Amino acid sequence: MLLHTIEEVRAEVKKWRKEGLTVGIVPTMGALHAGHLSLIKKAKQTCDKVVVSDFVNPIQFGPSEDFDKYPRTLDEDVKLCNSEGVDIVFAPSADEMYGEGQRLSNDTLTYVCPPFFYVNTLCGKSRTGHFDGVCTVVLKLFNIVQPDYGFFGQKDAQQVIIIKKMVKDLNVPITIVQCPIVREESGLALSSRNKYLSEEGKKDALVLSKILNNLKTCYSKGIKDVNALKETAYSFLNEKHDLEYLEIVDKDTLEDKKQADDNSIALIACRVEGVRLIDNIYLKEEV
Ligand code: PAJ
Repeated sequence: MLLHTIEEVRAEVKKWRKEGLTVGIVPTMGALHAGHLSLIKKAKQTCDKVVVSDFVNPIQFGPSEDFDKYPRTLDEDVKLCNSEGVDIVFAPSADEMYGEGQRLSNDTLTYVCPPFFYVNTLCGKSRTGHFDGVCTVVLKLFNIVQPDYGFFGQKDAQQVIIIKKMVKDLNVPITIVQCPIVREESGLALSSRNKYLSEEGKKDALVLSKILNNLKTCYSKGIKDVNALKETAYSFLNEKHDLEYLEIVDKDTLEDKKQADDNSIALIACRVEGVRLIDNIYLKEEV
């Protein structure tokens, strides 16, 4: 069922609650691919009823980012959701979410502001305000649907860490379920932004997963020094790769480390053909 208003969603969820059913939410910005579908499948396995939100959230995009050209494929998304047995696709307008004609700024709207230590690093460094926008919309979705479970991908590792922190700090009554990264056979992590890449660009983009897999191999062979590990990456890069960051940090707190350990995660952001791509890997666990 495709719904566009908060009122309709609330009315539907209320009926489920009366029947004692459990509810899961999968927040997305649409342009659904197999990565999103893996979250939806997990939600279906875990909950009686599943809501997928499909909303390109304006307040998480910076002024020079791709909000206008972000792919919007609602009709196909709804078909995919129906074939997965999703109960509600919630696709609100910006007016519905933030109020009609509302100026989208923290001068006039209440924003959720995650802690400085969690945002002043990795993606948050180049994307000022991004995680405020993410947390704000995600908390709003949690409040609208009041689900028992929320499903998020490890693909956006910093995002899911920050959302878990928000849930803990603000006592949101929800269990966050983190799902593994879905990749193409080539190793490229699926992303709605892969649509911007040419065939050649997709090949060049393999550098992200290659660097990460190599880091994991080096770690398993006993290289623990973070600088030494990072050094191993640079030979993979050429003029087609514009590296934004490569970091090895604690997978729960994002704290920097000098020595990697079994709790470390390696994260990379790199532009290929001007497209900003991110990926990550746990140094210890399976891919
Ligand atoms: P979006 O980029 O559409 O991603 C929605 C969810 O799908 C996120 O939890 C993301 O981590 C997950 N996902 C994306 N690619 C994946 C992959 N290859 N494997 C596994 N999971 C993957 O992330 C957002 O939207 C937004 O910031 C949102 C949380 C919806 C707030 O607006």
